[in-house]
Amino acid sequence: MTDPLWFKDAVFYELHVKAFHDGNGDGIGDFRGLIEKLDYLEWLGVTCLWLLPFFPSPLRDDGYDVANYVSIAPDYGSLEDFREFLDEAHKRGMRVIVDLVLNHTSDQHPWFQEARSSPQSAKRDYYVWSDTDKRYQKARIIFIDTEKSNWTWDPVAQAYYWHRFFSHQPDLNYDNPVLQQAMLDIMSFWLDQGLDGFRCDAVPYLFEREGTICENLPETHAYLKKIRKRIDEAYQGRILLAEANQWPADVRPYFGEGDEFHMAFHFPLMPRLFLGVRSEDWHPIVDMFTHTPPIPDNCQWCLFLRNHDELTLEMCAGEERDYMYYAYARDPLMRRNIGIARRLAPLLDNDRRKIELLNSLVFTLPGSPIIYYGDEIGMGDNVHLGDRNGVRTPMQWSADRNGGFSKTDPSKLYLPAISDSVYGFNVTNVESQRQAPHSLLHWMRQMIARRKQQPAFGRGALTFLRPKNDRVLAHIREHGGNLLLLVHNLAGSAQSVDLDLGPFEGRVPVELLGGSRFPVISKRPYVLSLAPYGFYWFNLEQKPGDDLSYGMEGSVL
Ligand code: NOJ
Ligand code: CA
Repeated sequence: MTDPLWFKDAVFYELHVKAFHDGNGDGIGDFRGLIEKLDYLEWLGVTCLWLLPFFPSPLRDDGYDVANYVSIAPDYGSLEDFREFLDEAHKRGMRVIVDLVLNHTSDQHPWFQEARSSPQSAKRDYYVWSDTDKRYQKARIIFIDTEKSNWTWDPVAQAYYWHRFFSHQPDLNYDNPVLQQAMLDIMSFWLDQGLDGFRCDAVPYLFEREGTICENLPETHAYLKKIRKRIDEAYQGRILLAEANQWPADVRPYFGEGDEFHMAFHFPLMPRLFLGVRSEDWHPIVDMFTHTPPIPDNCQWCLFLRNHDELTLEMCAGEERDYMYYAYARDPLMRRNIGIARRLAPLLDNDRRKIELLNSLVFTLPGSPIIYYGDEIGMGDNVHLGDRNGVRTPMQWSADRNGGFSKTDPSKLYLPAISDSVYGFNVTNVESQRQAPHSLLHWMRQMIARRKQQPAFGRGALTFLRPKNDRVLAHIREHGGNLLLLVHNLAGSAQSVDLDLGPFEGRVPVELLGGSRFPVISKRPYVLSLAPYGFYWFNLEQKPGDDLSYGMEGSVL
């Protein structure tokens, strides 16, 4: 039997079917196209794919406005294509999770159409209606760019309906047991196809209660535990990953006692990684772990640098938020909602050293890493596209027409491919990077492979060393007697650091990528020098091995 805790060692890869590869030449990515690229993903070494919503949808929120939960949008293919894709992914040792959009539907969903048609309709109670827009006033507005209220008047229903996101996304009413059951059945439908789990969208908002902020309510946790129970009873080995953009203390309950979510994104850590490198200071990163409570053994954090949304600053307030905007989005065109809609490489000025450094942090801090499609080759963005579309452009496979994404007329693409002189598909693409042994792509592949060799990355305990030089972040991961020492120079200048490695006296740091042995650890401070944005991954080996001389030198003639 496979290990039910497989997700602790997994390397995730997030992609949109629409954006990955167009198999039938209509300008929109599809499952047939994705199947053709599974060999690439296997070669890269990622072990679990997260697919963004691919259900029928008016696409006013890129598929997070679902109009039918148990079907595939025709542009992306058929259910058969999906099944074939899943089989092919499984054959290559990759698992697949997809979005489960629990909180709301599209206003085009037949449930909503029926619900609004009459107060007597059987589906009326699937949604949250009111005669006034004054209820639940303490709930914040999440999409402050576009929404003025969480209530919208529906002239057909002659009532207000509740929505935490866009006004075309009415919230489902989880006080209704029939709806609760309907969502469980939807889950089963996909799990019965062989799916390995769900990334559950917007979970803090399932219930509303007067006088509260309508987030993280006990009723919400109780329902989520029911979902988990269904998984444990009928679908062992499948996982639930929570999207709860909250402070760690508020995310902690989503793990329950190991009986709610298997995984949750660590949202507040993400901007602190960018802050840490920009301010050349380990404190923002280490402090975030001080604020992160322990989680049950059968649970795991999910760490990420970028995703399909803006780099959210909801978990940064005051000076930190101002600094992030100042450092990473001086041009207002780069800002969306409370955040920055840019990809990893442009955020880091396309500085290969910083890109490697930040990837190294998400690969070595506690949790499983997620790579956003295209970031493994340093793809760029297009801040002129509306909403968050600037980071959702076609994957760049080669220097061919449309970056090898589609054979169609470029004007027919679902979004224009990036074509500028730095990040455009002519220069930045998979084919050219596969041919260049020192490309970012090869580096990512190598780091993924190294990470997979060391279970301590996914499962080990964490200790920060807190050196006096606050430009150098140093941490230890320990698992089953294996000790890893990770040292990162967050600064753009060379640094020297003294580490107190006394407890590991007698061990020998062996650098994991090149295999070089470093001086044995003693009671004295361990001095390391690091290049600008340089870092080391060390295995602290138990005892000095044999000396490394070979050949005839030193032998008795
Ligand atoms: C979170 C998703 O990541 C985002 O893309 C979407 O707009 C909202 N949830 C609403 O579903
Ligand atoms: Ca297509």
